Amino acid sequence: MDEAARQAWIEAELDGYNLPPFIPLPTFDHHGPVEPPPFQRPLALLTFSYTPERKLIWNNSAMKFYKNPPLNAPLDRDYDKWIKRPEERGRLDGLLRALRRKAVRPEAARADVVTWRGVMTKIITAPYENREGWDLNAMFVNNCLYIEEHSTDARLQEKENMTPQHRLASYYGYAFESYCTTDRPLPPDIPPQGDGWGGPVDTNVQWCTVVKTKLGNLRIIMGAEVDCVRETFTGQPDTFVELKTSQVIRNQRDDQRFRSKMLKYWAQSYLLGIPEVVVGFRTQEGRIANVQSFPTLDFTKMARERGEWDGGVCLEFGFEFLTHILRYTRFAQKHTKDTIVWRISFKPGSGVTIKQVDFDTPAYDEVVNGEDREGFLPNSYYEHVRP
Ligand code: A3P
Ligand code: MG
Ligand code: MG
Repeated sequence: MDEAARQAWIEAELDGYNLPPFIPLPTFDHHGPVEPPPFQRPLALLTFSYTPERKLIWNNSAMKFYKNPPLNAPLDRDYDKWIKRPEERGRLDGLLRALRRKAVRPEAARADVVTWRGVMTKIITAPYENREGWDLNAMFVNNCLYIEEHSTDARLQEKENMTPQHRLASYYGYAFESYCTTDRPLPPDIPPQGDGWGGPVDTNVQWCTVVKTKLGNLRIIMGAEVDCVRETFTGQPDTFVELKTSQVIRNQRDDQRFRSKMLKYWAQSYLLGIPEVVVGFRTQEGRIANVQSFPTLDFTKMARERGEWDGGVCLEFGFEFLTHILRYTRFAQKHTKDTIVWRISFKPGSGVTIKQVDFDTPAYDEVVNGEDREGFLPNSYYEHVRP
């Protein structure tokens, strides 16, 4: 059987097993709350840092402690000193290196899914996303599904060439982080010291964690950047803090805008087990007007009361999505020795499609991107885990 015939045969077989290459979004025609699959409290297995030189090191040197930011502080401070990390592909490389460390290795060996938290956020919020689609690459290797974000060169260029307004707005978020954090823990609620500025922003520097969790019966390992921790730091997500900025709410439209962000705030923090999101509300002129800490779980409550969105629907969809993709890719991979790279594409309001990225197409070159890779996995990692 030639490759095209084999592919056709696999697709027909998958259809026969009720595994079409399409996952529809939930229809919301059910009544009453959904009973979502249980989500296990995420456990941190390892933390690591990126240095200003963007070197990955196995310590907490980039970890920051939360402190109250000064009010009325300008968020464009030191804008011209911003050391901006170039836009890059959402590769799994750093996370994969972490998987081979002693603290993670045994868990990695049993994982069903390995990805960044940002990817999981996209997946579980898809039922309510009606503007932006997304593309992922996936590979099923030795019983584990690896998922990365897919971005083309054109898309990266687009991100790099942000409009000046967008770039400044993006900087505000990092400036807020600088005002809200210190290298050493401070006692809670002391008044801000000096002008409270934490120094110029270098977005190469990041503190990251690797957690394990379960969604239903699926074992998931996620990597994520974490903004800061409380002074009671335990090493676990229950002391992590997520920082956000948002425009002050002056009218119904602002309120609507903030409410529409809550879903992302919730998903991003909940997936990692982060209990609190500190929001800096900023004025039109880019100053911190006030600061409010929201318990992550309150977002779901507020949304449910208003009938806006349901976190249970998100978890249910995430479970259906991953289960389907796992079955689909496991089946197909069973019938070939070649590494299959899958392209998973989400269209708002419609659903998710999955298709194979063919070796001999430009689409595949885009995945490997001239680097020494098997699909999107670094060769060294692939050689280590291949069956
Ligand atoms: P805000 O969170 O206040 O929006 P994160 O909150 O995920 O830790 O990200 C920190 C900051 O990075 C964001 O601050 C925002 O300024 C910037 N940022 C994140 N995603 C971005 C994107 N897609 N485009 C531009 N800026 C982004
Ligand atoms: Mg962050
Ligand atoms: Mg943040």
